[in-house]
Parts: sequence; structure tokens; C-alpha cells
Amino acid sequence: MMYRPSYAEINLGVIRDNYRLSSQLAPGSRHLAVIKANAYGHGAEQVAKTLEDIAPAFAVAFTDEALSLRKAGIRAPILILEGCFGSQELTIAAKNNFWVMLHSTEQVGMLEKTHLPSPVHCWLKIDTGMHRLGIDPLQVTAILQRLQSSGKLSHKPVLASHMANAEEISCPVNQKQIEQLKLLGQSTDHPLSLANSAALMQLPDSHSDWNRPGIMLYGCSPLTEKSEQIGLRPAMAVYSQIMAIRELQKGDAVGYGGHWRADQPGRIATLAIGYGDGYPRSTDSQCEVFLHGQRARVIGSVSMDMLGVDISHLPQAKVGDKVEIWGKNLPITELASRVNTLSYELLTRVNQRLPRQFIEE
Ligand SMILES: Cc1ncc(COP(=O)(O)O)c(C=O)c1O
Repeated sequence: MMYRPSYAEINLGVIRDNYRLSSQLAPGSRHLAVIKANAYGHGAEQVAKTLEDIAPAFAVAFTDEALSLRKAGIRAPILILEGCFGSQELTIAAKNNFWVMLHSTEQVGMLEKTHLPSPVHCWLKIDTGMHRLGIDPLQVTAILQRLQSSGKLSHKPVLASHMANAEEISCPVNQKQIEQLKLLGQSTDHPLSLANSAALMQLPDSHSDWNRPGIMLYGCSPLTEKSEQIGLRPAMAVYSQIMAIRELQKGDAVGYGGHWRADQPGRIATLAIGYGDGYPRSTDSQCEVFLHGQRARVIGSVSMDMLGVDISHLPQAKVGDKVEIWGKNLPITELASRVNTLSYELLTRVNQRLPRQFIEE
């Protein structure tokens, strides 16, 4: 039972459609569904269940995330993108059919030293230019030999790397990264994995044995035009309700700090959602919500559980009316750019306090 009228509606049918559309962009590849950070806020367990019969494997950041999915009954292989922080995790990985990313010589050494109940499938992350995680390309051949002689591997390791600038189609770093990984693939004859959503959408040269789409499964890529061409649709909409209305006189201030003042008489609605649910806390950010078929400006500073909206142009608005915070009429990518962030951040900020309602289209 949900008493509070604010919630995130997650359309699992849309996530399935988006997964299929992303796979069609590279029919010769396999596509690992990235569902870390609670499936970008959409509910990892439900998303994994909805994709389990079409996605050959999943990816999360940490062992803890992978274990939660196993507890929920997900049986598909799960790649742990950040690999293991301690040797105990390697044993857990071997027992649970987790695929383990090895991104450093330290992690390779840990694998060599750990006694495992059974071999594990390891991916080797290469630093092709992002300079965040990964093995130096010059060390790859030697490390592959060490891994082979360790006797701890169940399969030939996949050579993986991550694109730093895939959203910028003409960034020269893209081609450097792609070529670097392809050269290693040719010289070692190992499978490859490189493309994230943006690369899958606009850099066909980056497609390889395993692509790793994340944000596009949720329909919130920053490549808005490309997303529309492909037919991706946003899977999450957030709704709230008007819980109070105030008539204001010219000069009246609203909310903490009185940052916003009415410059003429008007009407203000208070909505039952705030930064404690993941909405960006902002003062005068030009954010909008959608109700009665129109947009309305968010005004004043956003509170933990509430926010104010100028509804002076909507005389029909009343307490109890449903309001779209983001969704079909108000793309999350637009809200993200108004508060100078990305849809990734807004989605993953939607916390457990805001109930998820799962629908199937
Ligand atoms: C290693 C790795 N691969 C793939 C992805 C998916 O990226 P995107 O959500 O941009 O598709 C991520 C996400 O950050 C990642 O860290």
C-alpha cells in the first residue's frame, strides 16, 4: 500500500524494447545489459528479470550488487565491472558464476594467489586512453601469459576497454581507443568489448564481440536526436501531486531563504516531492513540471520533501492534481541540462524513498 502520491513509474516493456533496439544496432555482437546502480535507478532486480530471457549476461559495478541479483533469483552470468577488492570476492565469484574484470596488476596478482573452488571467467580491462582503470596495453601479452599459466581461468579472457568521449562523434580520442583495442585483439586473438551506449549508437567501428549498453536501455541517452531515430523511449516517469495551493500578493516570498518573490499577484502550488527523493535541489534553476497539459515553473528553493510551482496561468489546478515531474512531456535530459548535470545522475539519485510502480506496456 502506498499512501504518498509521489512515485516513479517504470515501464519494463519499454526497457525490453530498448534492449532489442540496441542489439539491432550491432547484430553480430552480444549485448551485456548494464544494470549497475540499481539499474540506473529503475530497480535492478525487476530489470534483470525482465531482460533475463533476451540478454545473455548483465554487468554491475560491485560484487554486492551481483549478490543481490543472485538472491533475487537471477541466474544469468553477471560481470563485475570494477572487479574484486579482496580475495574473498574471487571465491564468491567462482561459486556464483560472476565474471570478474581484472583492471590492474594488483588484481591479477590476487587472482594468482587465491585458491579457488573452480575456475572463473575473467575479463581484462585495458587502458586505451581514459586513464581511469585498466592495464597498460604494453603489458597485455605478458599478463595474458601469466593468467593462462595460473590455471584459474574458465575461458579465454575478453579484452575490454571503456570509451572516454563516445558522445562526441568527432573526438580524435575515439579512433585511438578503438584502434588500440583492435590491434590487441588481432595480436592476441582474444574476444573484445568496448562500446557503451553512445559508441553503440554512433561509432560502428567500436562494435565488437560484446557491447555494453547502459543508459540507452532506459531511453535517456544524451544523444537525443539519435535516440529518437533509433526509436528509444524513456522507461521512467516521475509523478507527484499538488498538496497545497497559496494565493500570493506581489512581493510575497516562497520557501527557505525567500529566494523567490512574486513580482505580481499569483498562485503557487506545493508538490509532495523534494530533494530527499532525488529531485535536484536548486534555487531558481528554470526547472519545469507538467500539469493540465502545460508546463509550470519550479520556484524558490526545493525542500527535502516538497517543491513549489508557479501555477498562476492554470486557474483550474487544484489540490490533488497529478503532476509530471519528468517523463513523456518533460524529458529528463532537459531537466538534467537545466541543472547542469546528466540524466545518469538524476536517474541514479532517485532513491528508495520514492516508490517504484512497475508497468508493462
Ligand atoms: C565499464 C562500463 N561499461 C559500460 C557502461 C555503460 O555506459 P552507458 O550507460 O553510457 O551505456 C558503463 C557505465 O558507466 C561502464 O562503466
